[in-house]
Amino acid sequence: MTDLTRRAFTSLLAGGLTAAVLPKPVFAATRVDLAAAPGKARLVPDGYPETAIWGFDGQVPGPIIRVRQGEPVSRRFLNRLTQPSTVHWHGVRIDNAMDGVPDLTQSPVAAGDAFQYDFRVPDAGTYWYHPHTRSFEQVARGLYGALIVEEPEGAPEVDRDEVLLIDDWRLTETAQIADGFDNIHDWAHAGRIGNWITVNGDGRWRTTVARNARLRLRLVNVANARVFGLATPGLDGWVVALDGMPLDAPQPLDSLVLAPAQRADLIVDVTAEDGKEAALVSQDRDGAFKIATFAVDGETRAERLAAPKALPANPVAALGQLSSARKVDLLMEGGAMGGMRGAMMGGRMMGIQEMAQAGKIWAFNGMADMPREPFVAADRGETIQIAMTNDTAWPHAMHLHGHHFRQVTSGGSLGPLRDTLLVERGDTAEIAFVADNPGDWLLHCHMLEHSAGGMMTWIRVA
Ligand code: C2O
Ligand code: CU
Ligand code: CU
Repeated sequence: MTDLTRRAFTSLLAGGLTAAVLPKPVFAATRVDLAAAPGKARLVPDGYPETAIWGFDGQVPGPIIRVRQGEPVSRRFLNRLTQPSTVHWHGVRIDNAMDGVPDLTQSPVAAGDAFQYDFRVPDAGTYWYHPHTRSFEQVARGLYGALIVEEPEGAPEVDRDEVLLIDDWRLTETAQIADGFDNIHDWAHAGRIGNWITVNGDGRWRTTVARNARLRLRLVNVANARVFGLATPGLDGWVVALDGMPLDAPQPLDSLVLAPAQRADLIVDVTAEDGKEAALVSQDRDGAFKIATFAVDGETRAERLAAPKALPANPVAALGQLSSARKVDLLMEGGAMGGMRGAMMGGRMMGIQEMAQAGKIWAFNGMADMPREPFVAADRGETIQIAMTNDTAWPHAMHLHGHHFRQVTSGGSLGPLRDTLLVERGDTAEIAFVADNPGDWLLHCHMLEHSAGGMMTWIRVA
């Protein structure tokens, strides 16, 4: 208790007031506002200026919103940008009116306006929030934050719980965010790939840990388009959840691929020696480099703890018989080296040149705009199975709103619950889910340039 509250407490008692009027403790979850606003961030240290960003509450990342499972989240969103915005609560099986999709679930929030978001979070796990208007620009400028939903009980014991939001920025030589958000070359290729990686808005993220300490690391890929291949030298453990949802059993952690918008919850023990460093390492074609450092100082315990149990399952409806599922196909086409000649746009067939001039370069089932009719109109409770065929030269991170799905392999086995699935070029990935959340829900690529460029459709659940 600070002096100030101690004084207030004493004077209330002195005034003879009853306990009922004592102020309630203020938790982060009871904060009332969340503003999208310009700000400054120290993304690049040493000798560089700060970077002008857009962030929630003017920060990168935005504030961590932490609630218990089933508790309400209530935020008045204030748009202090100069363009319309919204907040989408990624991965939350949310009430449709709160999903933050402009012109589908709400009107865009004009510059200077506000919107009240009120919802409950049915599932424990690691989620995140970001705008859904010009997200290829707004997310790239730093508008994102974590939404952490704690297990009310049954969470494994850990010494530390760290949220690590991994981003990829395209910066100029003076460490400012490069323009060119609508660069058609990026849109038609892998998307806006950057040149500076941060963890929690810091290009040199670092912490101190003790040997044999147990950490829960909540990794979130908030980059527009970069797929991270991650390794954790000096940290040994398990993947316990993907996209917020607990795995049936913890999987031994080897390396990990995290596509845009995907999350992984890890439980790891610090196995690096005292005085050494453990790290989170990003590995790709350009080589391997450290994006987060865990300097080891001292020892928490002499031996490692026993393997963790699975996290308690979330209340997601089990898939029924897939033989009776409604089966639909989604053909992904377009992009550079894809050979697409044209697609439907604005109600007529357009050639690829004309499409590109209008900023569309991809199509789902031959349509480049958001279709007026849903791709699937499901009855509530119906099981839907979608075969997504990637007939392009690029991988795509396919994301469904309002539901989690499982991948169905050709042998018929089921993958873990996810909300975003990476579909490699040339592959067909089948997903299945129970359409039990009523409303209109997007299905799109989370490479944000790809969705803006045509990879966006929607389903309706009656
Ligand atoms: Cu992370 Cu449609 O969104
Ligand atoms: Cu989403
Ligand atoms: Cu894509």
